[in-house]
Amino acid sequence: MKTQKTTVGAVDKEVLSFTAGRDVELDVKLIQADCIGTAAHVTMLSKMKPAILTDAECKKVIRELKKIIALADEGKFKIRLADQDVHLAVERTLTEQLGDLGKKIHTCRSRNDQVAVDLRLYAREELLGTLEEAAALAAALLAFGKKHQKVPMVGRTHMQPGMPSSVGLWASAHAESLLDDCVLLVSAYELNDQCPLGSAAGYGVPLEIDRELTSDLLGFSCPVHNVLYASNSRGKNESIILSAMSQVMLTLSRIAQDLMLFTMPEFGYFTLPDELTTGSSIMPQKKNPDVIELVRARASKVKACELAVYDLVKGLPTGYNRDLQDAKEPFIEGIATTRACLRVLSPFVEAIAVNKQALKDGFTPDVFATDRALELVGEGMPFRNAYHYVKENLSELEKIDPAKALAKKTHLGAPMGIDWTLLKERVTAVNGIVSDERNAIAHAVEKLLSTK
Ligand code: ARG
Repeated sequence: MKTQKTTVGAVDKEVLSFTAGRDVELDVKLIQADCIGTAAHVTMLSKMKPAILTDAECKKVIRELKKIIALADEGKFKIRLADQDVHLAVERTLTEQLGDLGKKIHTCRSRNDQVAVDLRLYAREELLGTLEEAAALAAALLAFGKKHQKVPMVGRTHMQPGMPSSVGLWASAHAESLLDDCVLLVSAYELNDQCPLGSAAGYGVPLEIDRELTSDLLGFSCPVHNVLYASNSRGKNESIILSAMSQVMLTLSRIAQDLMLFTMPEFGYFTLPDELTTGSSIMPQKKNPDVIELVRARASKVKACELAVYDLVKGLPTGYNRDLQDAKEPFIEGIATTRACLRVLSPFVEAIAVNKQALKDGFTPDVFATDRALELVGEGMPFRNAYHYVKENLSELEKIDPAKALAKKTHLGAPMGIDWTLLKERVTAVNGIVSDERNAIAHAVEKLLSTK
């Protein structure tokens, strides 16, 4: 049997590579988080009574951690297979540089709470990035919608022509959907914003550690209270975040599907600029909407990531189980995919050309049937009688100017009653949360890493 020496004992080589799995590559994304988490932990250890580290030792460790962060920024910090993961790679490096001092840093900590805090630190950055990108797309949809708010468009149900609608109503519907998704992202952010550090293996430690302190140092809102729940929340937290991401993708997929229909020559409502479409290798004339097709496909992918994590967690007994490691890949993948889709769609929306004539040509007299029935109601006819009258006399319907029909729909949220200011304020509020949180995090991290 070929064994490999590791920080935590000799392991069969096959077992080592099987159990490390993809951590050696994926944990590269967690290096900065691991160092920051460790900085908070050692700071707390230096404040314990009796202190595990002196203040001077704590500063030494933080200086080394900053070097690791700088190396990682240049892509030069290496996690080896013998390390298994980022946590032991950082501990090995600190021990190489600081000797026995490096061996003290893991006091009162387990890799279980360490990876949990790393993932939450990683997630909070990603969630703020996602919120910023979602707000940008919502703003783009609102700008597009407002610009074309009066352009009539046939409103459909069952994909069949239904009632007069407008481009503004269509675009702002998707913007409002995204703004609701932001509410889910913010709740996921708030749940994520609790610090699991100090839960150790999931059952606490016999020394008096200060969990409030590590939580504050890292800029979290509070510690996860129960140490066992802190451990169990690994995986659940990822699943909550991915479920918010998959709601975002549900919105994006519907935007994509609409755009595919409305840019078909048979509709011709919208045109996509050439540079955002792709050609065919055989059909010279083709300008395919591959971007939006892939957004639709990736909605399935993000849902698959969410389900992968959910399914992995649902069968787990209480306490840490190594299965959780396998939630990392779909977690990172699901977030990255959602963010890429948000980013690709914003310029797309801004560049859509609106073909007013094609939109107008879509209006056949029957699209005004419901409006006509309600007109008769206005003249005193009970609705059901008016409905039957119009149904039996569809040929009497006139082709009216859809803009005139739209102009009458001014009540709250109707095609001409969209409160653009209210929707824009929701975008501003999301951006406000992002910048406030980013400032608070930057402030906490800067203070934590200062070694003056
Ligand atoms: N790479 C591991 C994970 O992602 C780190 C925690 C390992 N803990 C353990 N008890 N083996 O879960």
